Amino acid sequence: MKEIHTQVVIVGAGPAGLLLGQLLNRDGIDNVILERRSREYVEKRVRAGVIEFGIANFLEEAGAGARMRYEGLVHHGVEIRFERSSHRIALSDLASGKTITVYGQQEVVKDLVALRLNAGAELLFETEVKFIGGLTDDLAVVDAEGLDGSLRLTCDYVAGCDGSFGVANRSLPSSVVRRYERTYPFSWLGILAEAPPTTDELIYCRHERGFALYSMRSPTLSRLYLGVRPEEKLDEWSDDRIWDELDVRLATEEMPEINQGRIVERGITAMRSVVIEPMRFGRLLLAGDAAHIVPPTGAKGMNLALADVRVLSRALCEKIQHDDDALLDDYSATCLERVWRAEEFSNYMTQMLHPTHLDDFENGVQSARLRQAVTSLEASTVLARNYVDLNSL
Ligand code: FAD
Ligand code: DHB
Repeated sequence: MKEIHTQVVIVGAGPAGLLLGQLLNRDGIDNVILERRSREYVEKRVRAGVIEFGIANFLEEAGAGARMRYEGLVHHGVEIRFERSSHRIALSDLASGKTITVYGQQEVVKDLVALRLNAGAELLFETEVKFIGGLTDDLAVVDAEGLDGSLRLTCDYVAGCDGSFGVANRSLPSSVVRRYERTYPFSWLGILAEAPPTTDELIYCRHERGFALYSMRSPTLSRLYLGVRPEEKLDEWSDDRIWDELDVRLATEEMPEINQGRIVERGITAMRSVVIEPMRFGRLLLAGDAAHIVPPTGAKGMNLALADVRVLSRALCEKIQHDDDALLDDYSATCLERVWRAEEFSNYMTQMLHPTHLDDFENGVQSARLRQAVTSLEASTVLARNYVDLNSL
């Protein structure tokens, strides 16, 4: 078995793990990233698309924002559509001039992988972590299986950035962990299509047949989502059925049809809320989806993950370079306050925009919430501020 010693082992090369590696490198802290998938797989995985104002600035400060600033689409508003009418939320006007940047998560991942490999730092793909231990000992131990066989790493700290179904959150002793969870009775069917976006701004739409979201990636690529029942299968959705359903849900008099094109990616994602408390046990620190999941309505998942890493990188730096425990001791409490705010906002957006087929009373409440969100200055200001910059408020 090959043995390696480093200061920080990072499990997972998603946005959280890769950004943490970049920040630690810049502070001169030795670290190794282990990723169970191939480079090609992580760079092609289509997921999030909206980057908050403060998080975009943070990516730039971290030296990872150059292409995002050049290619990302800066949006000043977002549309909420219901009962066949459109309502614009003037994000920048309501949120002190702040904007969002539409830039695919896989582009953030590509940028961070390139920075790391150009710097010659350790990033081991196709290397799956099987065991994390020694969390209250002098050194933590991480066992992994890679392309060249078994690896044992010893380190001062392990950053568990390996998503919800990884090994890190299962390595916290069950006696100290509290898990909060909710599963929603709908999923999202997402497509990426070679079609120029029909609109300039994102559209969140509540239709009695279900939720729809119009998003985009570039002047030639559209990203769209349909709310579907959790039991629905992808092969029941032909291209024609997807486009017809999007047209029915999104149509208004001003926008009777949407641009169509070849569908290059498709998938169905279940919607869950999860919070794991605490986010630290001894030498193991959780960040991103490993510690919490939000339903995607509101676009908070990647932003939360990157915001955790902003706190974690500073805390590790203070401890390792100045032997100061204070930030590390507060890591979990500092993050969880923001995490619960994001859970609340994502839950609010989800409950407001997904009609239920079973509960007419709930549908009435949703309509009232939507009308309030678009007509009350106070309600739209709260929505705009949370949408644009929740993780830096
Ligand atoms: P991940 O990206 O999941 O990365 C974890 C990595 O760990 C993976 O690469 C995985 O392969 C690896 N791994 C797992 N187990 C192991 C192991 N044992 N050993 C080694 N490696 C391991 N968020 C937003 O902010 N805005 C949006 O607009 C948005 N839209 C979304 C739309 C959809 C359809 C979906 C599914 C998600 C969306 N999200 C959005 C959420 C966002 O994609 C996630 O929150 C984000 O990926 C979290 O990053 P992460 O680095 O914590 O985890
Ligand atoms: C996108 C995803 C989201 O979850 C969301 O709320 C807005 C946009 C996207 O993939 O572009």
